[in-house]
Amino acid sequence: MDCHTSGPGTGVFITAGTSISGTGGYVEYYADTARTDLRARLEVDAYGNFYTVTAIDILTPNGSGFSQGAYVSVVMPNGSRRNMPGIVSHTSAGCNACHSSTGTQSPL
Ligand code: HEC
Repeated sequence: MDCHTSGPGTGVFITAGTSISGTGGYVEYYADTARTDLRARLEVDAYGNFYTVTAIDILTPNGSGFSQGAYVSVVMPNGSRRNMPGIVSHTSAGCNACHSSTGTQSPL
């Protein structure tokens, strides 16, 4: 995310990551922990990457610098789902900050 905040590239990445689980599948962003209120769904591309430059309301900070945050789920190409127990906010929507071989969590 540090590299994609400004400049001539695609634009500001609202959220992004790379899946090592392969290509295909989706990453979904919900407003509720029960995952009934879907706000965004990103497709994992042929390189295993997913990102968006389109604002997601629950990841957009308000005037006080807070965003509601999102409950994220990874939908595998075979349809099985992996839910992240915690919440992701606009400051932590770069998944690989935690989920990488050098991060605190296993890669996705
Ligand atoms: C601030 C650190 C952090 C960030 C950023 C983060 N996660 Fe997580 N993630 C965690 C922690 C902590 C767990 C809990 C691990 C456990 O207890 O099993 C977790 C668990 C998960 C799980 C369930 C475990 C698994 O591997 O199936 C998924 C899926 C997941 N995260 C997806 C994501 C996605 C997608 C993003 C980006 C939108 C993201 N995470 C961003 C810290 C983070």
